[in-house]
Amino acid sequence: MTSRRGARLESTPPGGAVPSAAVDAVAAARMLGTTDEQWATVLGRFDRHFGRLVHLLEEVYGPGEATTRELALLAELLATSWQERPADLHALDAAREADPTWFMSQRMLGGVLYVDRYAGDLEGVRRQIPYLEELGLTYLHLMPLFEAPEENSDGGYAVSSYRAVDPSLGTMAELRDLAAELRAHGIALVVDFIFNHTSDEHAWAQAARAGDPEHEAFYWFFPDRTMPDAYERTVREIFPDDHPGSFVPVPTPDGLGERWVWATFHSFQWDLNYANPAVFRAMAAEMLFLANQGVDILRMDAVAFIWKQLGTSCESLPQAHLLLQAFNAVCRIAAPAVLFKSEAIVHPDEVIEYISVDECQLSYDPLKMALVWSALATRDGRLLQQALERRHALPAGTSWVGYVRSHDDIGWTFADEDAAELGIDAAAHRRFLNRFYVDRFPGSFARGVPFQDNPRTGDCRIAGTTASLAGLEAGDAGAVDRIVLAHAIVLSTGGMPLLYLGDEVGQLNDYGALDEPGHGEDSRWVNRPRYPATRYAQRTDPSTDAGRIFARLRHLVEVRRRTPELAGNDLITFDTHNPHLVAYQRPGPGTLVLVVANVADDPQHVDATTLSGLPASAEDLLAGDVVDLRGGLTVPAHGVVWLRVAGGGGTHE
Ligand code: GLC
Ligand code: GLC
Repeated sequence: MTSRRGARLESTPPGGAVPSAAVDAVAAARMLGTTDEQWATVLGRFDRHFGRLVHLLEEVYGPGEATTRELALLAELLATSWQERPADLHALDAAREADPTWFMSQRMLGGVLYVDRYAGDLEGVRRQIPYLEELGLTYLHLMPLFEAPEENSDGGYAVSSYRAVDPSLGTMAELRDLAAELRAHGIALVVDFIFNHTSDEHAWAQAARAGDPEHEAFYWFFPDRTMPDAYERTVREIFPDDHPGSFVPVPTPDGLGERWVWATFHSFQWDLNYANPAVFRAMAAEMLFLANQGVDILRMDAVAFIWKQLGTSCESLPQAHLLLQAFNAVCRIAAPAVLFKSEAIVHPDEVIEYISVDECQLSYDPLKMALVWSALATRDGRLLQQALERRHALPAGTSWVGYVRSHDDIGWTFADEDAAELGIDAAAHRRFLNRFYVDRFPGSFARGVPFQDNPRTGDCRIAGTTASLAGLEAGDAGAVDRIVLAHAIVLSTGGMPLLYLGDEVGQLNDYGALDEPGHGEDSRWVNRPRYPATRYAQRTDPSTDAGRIFARLRHLVEVRRRTPELAGNDLITFDTHNPHLVAYQRPGPGTLVLVVANVADDPQHVDATTLSGLPASAEDLLAGDVVDLRGGLTVPAHGVVWLRVAGGGGTHE
């Protein structure tokens, strides 16, 4: 064990010396009643990760006195946050360090809800815990619940204070209690870390608006359109319905003139300026504050946008990764239980770059999400199959978060070149999907609505609940099967599946939500409906759609829980030679589970020769019986099978 006397870090890690302030801060912490064991633990963490932090920030900000000063202040922040971290979270830190892949179990299942719309307030969420357990959830993402501007808050994604809960939902103390209570029920708490921007009502933004130079430097202010015009030559528009381009006018402090501030999303969401190292440190403090409330996973919002550089797209630049890694190192030292989930809804080549144990251990899988919908519309599974084959693999110790849909829109983020290989014209296919999902295509079963329809660029995305998109609203006969099928794919491809609560009882679009104050131009509100009390009441009634969907999803979840082959992320695609079938194998020790999903409206067959590499019979996990594979395999319309066979390589006896 490291001697407490002399308070020295064992080694000088690569990338630079540890500022002595770090040692001093740790030493100060030692004075405050730290045990020998804790002392050794925290020194070990500094030892392992502070050098990396030094290296990363020197890469971003350049070596030199200013950076060294920032690092010393950061070291102090880390030691203080660690010191303030409650004892139960220290214990959790140790447990997760000892079991770093805890989140990859097939028993993990995520759910997501808006506190106000689903449960009224935090107390309401607490009262839902028995239901969350009934559903089998082990992970709960509460949509942004921090103080935000009234009405216009982008569903809470415009944060006015990271340290205060929106008073209509509860208090920070209640959030802390809820985190502890969820954990006692085996449910991890996930909240957003909205770190690309703050609301224009955040104290920093208010100070900047009033002309305080320290806080002006937290944002991107320009005196006129010269620089905004220059940036906009290469930057894409994200919310053109709200404002064209990426900048909005703001009055000068004297109120007489106008200046411009960077706002990638809504006009009231001002992008933080990470070129200023004080912003990194300030946001690290907000992050550790949240970590110390007992948050298990931070959903890292809009990761692609945090670094800007003239002449580039200002998305997914190398510094964005370095900064995320630096935030990761901060957590490894001061709150190692906490994991990051990347929200990068971008080209698949870029999505993958955020995923590593040193950056984000988890990431949304927007490609699989979009391609499930593409497969259902076209009744052709090839794009999805191809994506599973070439874009599913991840670094060890990391995982996808699979989802059928989120609170946001569906964007068709597949790679044009992947589509081209299958003879599919990407632009034409996107146009088709947009028309199909907003019911502008003859015979479409879908009832979605366009989001950010941009006639100038041809860009458009889709909003809608799973049930409305899958045909339930239109009364299509295949709707329930499609809803189950989409979830069966997400529940069996590995990683952490995420249910949007309400979808498990087939909740439809809420068009009335568009008329609520503050929702005006944002069509995503149709897929953020309120708690569907009637449907939940029907969930045990098999004569209702809600009952049928709920029972079948519950069954999938239960079977998955007892199927260890479905843990982790390893997946090998299986070529059925049938374009309507998506098929893959999930290897386990001595066995494998073969999943075959049929996206067509009629039964599809895999012939015996194609299956000849497998044993003669398999355990049908969902049906609970044994199937003979010697005659091939037929999968019903919109059906799916999960087949367990004895270890790979066997042949027919
Ligand atoms: C994320 C959120 C989205 C929000 C945006 C801006 O993409 O999912 O709802 O509009 O960030 O914060
Ligand atoms: C959010 C928005 C989506 C946008 C994306 C950009 O997911 O909802 O429309 O394309 O962010 O990353």
